[in-house]
Amino acid sequence: EEGLHPTQYPWEHAKWNKTFDSQAHGSLRRGFQVYREVCASCHSLSRIPYRSLVGKIMTVDEAKALAEENEYDTEPNDEGEIEKRPGKLSDYLPGPYKNDEAARAANNGALPPDLSLMVKARHGGCDYIFSLLTGYPEEPPAGAVVPEGLNFNPYFPGTGIAMARVLYDDLVEYEDETPATTSQMAKDVTEFLNWAAEPEADDRKKMGWKVLAVTSVLTALSIWVKRYKWASVK
Ligand code: HEM
Repeated sequence: EEGLHPTQYPWEHAKWNKTFDSQAHGSLRRGFQVYREVCASCHSLSRIPYRSLVGKIMTVDEAKALAEENEYDTEPNDEGEIEKRPGKLSDYLPGPYKNDEAARAANNGALPPDLSLMVKARHGGCDYIFSLLTGYPEEPPAGAVVPEGLNFNPYFPGTGIAMARVLYDDLVEYEDETPATTSQMAKDVTEFLNWAAEPEADDRKKMGWKVLAVTSVLTALSIWVKRYKWASVK
């Protein structure tokens, strides 16, 4: 059974001539804050190393400090012992649970999926995730059958989802003082998850401009050379 089709929103970063960072209002940084403070207690983001946050989302010093907040296993030494060391830029963001069994045990049997590629994995992408996060009604509509332990959300295929509503107005406090409404947090975290799923997208768009610039110079040059060579032929 299909869920309700999500509304199509005019995502700024999806435009061909826009990048995630050209929006100049820190959406990615806010989105990462929402991920850390809200989603990270249940969802991993296993494909993101601290180093990839540098430049886009935080400074190198901030990323180093963040890495050092977590402990990682060392390589086994000659005796085969594994010790703990503070994280570094090349480490990956840690998940909330030891393994899938622990994750299910904490979530009534449901598994919170890794969010790294979620924007790509789900039909509707950003529109779907935004709609899902903001789409929990106060009460399920009359006549809806919601199985025990599930929550009604019309955008989720099947409409009964194990994840309850997680975003409420003013749940986080943004350092740039953007009002943290439910929809603002949903938008920011969705854009952040889109960046996480394709961190190279901005580079690709910027490369497009360079290719255009170089090919137009070369085209102009070749027209000039052609005219110059043929100038003597009357
Ligand atoms: C599922 C996003 C917070 C528990 C999902 C899905 C997404 C998502 C996109 C997949 C839906 C699908 O399969 O189509 C988020 C975001 C969060 C967040 C962006 C933060 C803003 C949480 C929290 C918990 C949680 C805090 C635990 C308390 C789950 C569970 C599922 C799920 C158990 C599986 C649902 C099912 O298959 O029925 N979440 N989530 N999520 N999430 Fe979250």
